[in-house]
Amino acid sequence: MNDALQRLPQWQALAAHRDRVAPRHLRELFAEDPRRFDRFSLSAGDLLADFSKQRIDAHTVALLLDLAAARSLGDCIQRMAAGSRINVTEGRAALHIALRAETRYCVDGAEVTSGVHANLDRFLRLAEQIRAGTTTGASGRTIRQVVNLGIGGSDLGPRMATRALARFADPRIAVDYVANVDPAELGSVLARAEPAETLFILSSKSFTTVETLTNARTARAWLAARLGSERAIAAHFVAVTNNLAAAARFGIPATGCFELPEWVGGRYSMWSAIGLPLACSIGAANFRALLAGARAIDEHVLATPAERNVPVLMALIGIWNIDFLGAASLAVLPYSHALGELPDYLQQLDMESNGKRVGADGHPIGVDTAPIVWGGAGTVGQHAFHQLFYQGTRLTPIDFVVPAGRGGEAQDALVTAAFAQSAALMLGRTAEEARAELCARKIPSEEVERLTPHLVCPGNQPSTTLLFPELTPSTLGQLIALYEHKVFVQGCIWGINSFDQYGVELGKHMASSIGLAETPAPQLDSSTAGLTQALRRMRGG
Ligand code: F6P
Repeated sequence: MNDALQRLPQWQALAAHRDRVAPRHLRELFAEDPRRFDRFSLSAGDLLADFSKQRIDAHTVALLLDLAAARSLGDCIQRMAAGSRINVTEGRAALHIALRAETRYCVDGAEVTSGVHANLDRFLRLAEQIRAGTTTGASGRTIRQVVNLGIGGSDLGPRMATRALARFADPRIAVDYVANVDPAELGSVLARAEPAETLFILSSKSFTTVETLTNARTARAWLAARLGSERAIAAHFVAVTNNLAAAARFGIPATGCFELPEWVGGRYSMWSAIGLPLACSIGAANFRALLAGARAIDEHVLATPAERNVPVLMALIGIWNIDFLGAASLAVLPYSHALGELPDYLQQLDMESNGKRVGADGHPIGVDTAPIVWGGAGTVGQHAFHQLFYQGTRLTPIDFVVPAGRGGEAQDALVTAAFAQSAALMLGRTAEEARAELCARKIPSEEVERLTPHLVCPGNQPSTTLLFPELTPSTLGQLIALYEHKVFVQGCIWGINSFDQYGVELGKHMASSIGLAETPAPQLDSSTAGLTQALRRMRGG
C-alpha cells in the first residue's frame, strides 16, 4: 500500500480542494459567513468544540467525511468496540473503553466487564482504605504516602490527572510519581518520605521496564534498610501489571497485585488500576465520575454519525492540517494551570500511537502521520513561544483547551486571553492595520514605514477551542476520551495499528548493549564508543 491512500479518489479530491482553499484567509471565510461559528462548532458531553477557526469550509468537511467513509471508519470503530484483535501486530484487542463501561464488552467472545468491575471495586476499595487511614505498614503505622513507580503509560495519565484534579485531592494522603531512572527523582521523594507510612505502587504492564524496576529495587532496599527486613516489603508494595509472575518474583504477593488486562495499551490505561494512585488522591466517587465522563464520550462516538461526531471531525481536520496543509506539529495549550501536564500526556498518546510510517498491513503509508505534539499552559506560553505563531514561518495548528471556570478577575483574564489568542492568530494584522496603529500612536511617518513590516502578522493560524464548564473528574474524563478517540480515528484513516510501539524497543535494546566497561563493546560505532570512553575519563576511570 505504497500510495494506496493518495490514489484514493477521495484523497485526490481533497488535494484538489486544498489547491483552491489553501490561499484563502480565515478572515474571508468569516466575513462571507456570519453563521460560521454555529456551522462549525458542536458539542459532545459537556465539551464544546469550536472548529470555525480551522482552515476549512463546508466542502472541506464533506470531502473529509467522504475519505472517512472510503476508509470504512464506521467498521473500524465497531471492530474496536467489538473487542476484535485490531492490534494486529501483537494479536490483541484494544478495548480500553471497556474499563469505563457499564454495558457488556467481550474479547474473543469472552465477557470482560465483570472482571473489569471486580478489579475496579478492588483497587478503589484499597484507595478508600488508604484515605480512611485503615491501611497500615509492616510496623502497624498508617500509610500516609503513596509513591507510584512507573513510566510512560504507567505514569503520565495518573500523574497528569492527579495534578489536574488537585482541588479534589485528600490532603491527608501524599501522592508522588517517580518515572525517571535518574536517581535524583526518586531521591527527592524518598528524602521527604517516612518509610513506615509509605506504600509503593509498582506500575508496569510488562514488569520488564528498566527504569521502573531499577527504581523499585532502590525503593525496596531503602525500605528494607529502614524497616529492618525484607519481610516488610509485602506490606509496602503493591503492583499493577499484566505480568503477575514477575511481580511475585519481586516479592509482591497476589493479594497485592492488580491486573492490567493485555487488551489495554499502556498509554490508554489510566482508567484501569494504573489509576490507583489517582484514586488514592481523589477517592472512589471522583474516580468513578472520571470513568463516567469518558463513557459519555464513548457513547457519543459509538452513536453519533460522523458529521456530528466531535472526535471524528477533530481527527479529520487534524489530517487535513497535516497531509494537505503541511503542518508538522500540533500545539496543545491548556488555559489552566491544573492541566499543565496535558501536553506531556498527549505526546505519548498521539506520537506513540501514530508515530509510524508503516500501515497495519506492513506497507509504507506514503503520507505524513502523527504530528509532533507539544505545548504548555496558557497564558505562560504567550510570553514564551507564541511569537512564532504570530510571525514565524510555520503553520502550527493549535488546540486551546479552556475550562470556563466560575469567573472573577483572574479567571476572566485567563479565558479572555485564550479567546484573544485564537482570534488574533486567526485574523493577524495587515500592513494597513499596522500603519494605522503606528499613526494612531503619533509615530513620525518615516518611523511608521520602517516599523510597519515588523508589526504585520499574517494570521490564518488554524485552531480549535475546546470549551467546557469546569475542570472536574467528569470533564477531564471526557477530554481525555475525546483525544483517545481522535487518535484512534486518525490511525484508522492512515491505516495504522495505533496500539503497538515496536520502534522504542530499538533504543532499549541498544542501551542494554552499551556497557560502560573499560573496553567499549566492539560493535559500537565510534561516536558511542568515544562517548563511553570520555564518560569514564570524566568519572576518573
Ligand atoms: O517504552 C514504551 C513503553 O512500552 C510504553 O508503551 C509504556 O507505556 C511504557 O513503556 C511503560 O511500559 P510498562 O508499563 O510495561 O512498564
